[in-house]
This record gives sequence, structure tokens and C-alpha cells, in this order.
Amino acid sequence: MVEVREAAKVLSQARRVVVFTGAGISAESGVPTFRDALTGLWERFDAQALATPQAFQDDPDLVWGWYEWRRTVIRRVHPNPGHEAVAAIEARTPRSVVITQNVDDLHERAGSAGPLHLHGSLFEPRCASCARSAPVPDGEEPAEGRRLAPPRCEHCSGPVRPGVVWFGEALPEQILETAVQEATDCDVLLTIGTSGLVYPAAEIPKVAAMFGATVIQVNPQPTPLDAVAGINLHGTAATILPALVTAAWPRLS
Ligand code: APR
Repeated sequence: MVEVREAAKVLSQARRVVVFTGAGISAESGVPTFRDALTGLWERFDAQALATPQAFQDDPDLVWGWYEWRRTVIRRVHPNPGHEAVAAIEARTPRSVVITQNVDDLHERAGSAGPLHLHGSLFEPRCASCARSAPVPDGEEPAEGRRLAPPRCEHCSGPVRPGVVWFGEALPEQILETAVQEATDCDVLLTIGTSGLVYPAAEIPKVAAMFGATVIQVNPQPTPLDAVAGINLHGTAATILPALVTAAWPRLS
């Protein structure tokens, strides 16, 4: 693919790289993306409707059950060659950072150092009342899912909630600020497996382009970021990214 060679040339000469990821990079590990239809108990729910403070207030057992089911799914899957290629890019560029919208820990398990989680993490539950962090449950949820009462906070007995950013909630300020700064300072931004529909996260590739970086998109489908990207690689993360790494650093592969 000519575009892969073009992207590899730009990447191999980059000083500062941002790798921006969405649900698509975890799809080939078996993690449903946000727009994929849900299964089991969750089939009759829309993912977006379950991911709001109001939904948790109205039916905490349903929402907690759903996030515990997602945490169980993540625990059972593994990083794919896309995640591994991202860790390889980090190891081969002078300075790089991973900025992810994903709440899974697959980047960390693939060896990425300190990805910035814009939308929080399934592994950082906290109290919904006093905001203190709570232990990560170690239970396994049934494949079809179930309602599950959230545990109680050891400090104030408030309900424990998932450590993710729900629709209508603000992103973690410090992490967002750092992400915008990294996008401003980078010379290459890779955007991988995101629909580019959810703001303010979707601003990140645009900020990088605005400050002169080359934006490279990896996605099998067209997205609103096609217009922002200087190079569009139409394919899946687990196929395109290893090829990109090999083309950028042939002697190291
Ligand atoms: N490789 C690369 N991209 C893929 C793959 C794959 N194997 N499979 C699907 N995709 C692409 C889809 O074409 C789509 O553009 O990944 C994108 C997934 O889009 P969404 O499900 O909208 O996920 P994302 O962009 O991460 O959503 C952003 O929205 O729902 C909220 O908080 C949630 O973080 C999430 C945010």
C-alpha cells in the first residue's frame, strides 16, 4: 500500500508522536466498539443510555452490572497486534504518548507506558458520594450479564461507581490539558479506530493538524477525521499498524 510507505516515512522521521486511539483498536481483541450492538441482558439497551449519571441514579444495579460485565470481558481478552505495534512505535520514537478514549487496560498490557485515559478506566472504581477510590472487584460476571448491586464505600458507605467518564460529565481536567498540550507539540499524530464523533476528545487530532502536525488515520470506515488526516489508511488496526512499524523501521523488525 503506497499510503503505508508514505506514512512510514513520516513516522520514521518524527521527533514527537501522539497515538490517539478509540474502541476500534480493541475490536480485534474481541471488545465490542461503542457503536456495536449489545448482547445478552444488554441487548435491549443502548450503550449510550447506560453510560450516564442519570442511568446510574435510576438503576444502579443495572449500570454496575453492565460495567462489571465489561470488566470481565476485558479480563478475558488479550492485546492484539495493533496494541503491540503502538508499544513498538513508542519504543522507537524519541518522544511519544498514547492518548486513549478506551476504558480498557489493553494498551498497558501491551507494554505502553502511561497512556492518558481521557474517558477514565474500568479499573479505577470510586465512591459516587465522596469520590475516594475503591477496590477493583475481582469477580467474574456471567456471559449474558446480570444486575449487580454496586459495593458500598468503605469510608462513607456511598455507592461505588465505575471510574469512567459518563455522557454529560466533564473529562478529567489535568489529563485533558496534558493531551491538548501533547497534540499542540507533536509533529505526527496517529488516530486509530475512532469514529471522531465524541467531543471534546475528537478535538485532539484537529488541534494537532492546526499546529502543523501530520495526521495519519487508521480506520476501515470513513470518518469525519478523513478531512483532517493528511494520510488515510483504510484497514484494521491489527493489520495496518504492524505493517506500518515494519515499513518505518525495517532493520528493527
Ligand atoms: N481497526 C480499526 N478501526 C476499527 C476497527 C478495527 N479493527 N473496527 C472498528 N473500527 C472503527 C469503526 O469504523 C469506528 O469508526 O472504530 C470506530 C469505533 O467507533 P466508536 O464505537 O464510536 O468508538 P470511539 O470513537 O472510541 O467512541 C468514542 O464514545 O461512546 C463513547 O466513551 C465512549 O470512548 C467512547 C467514545
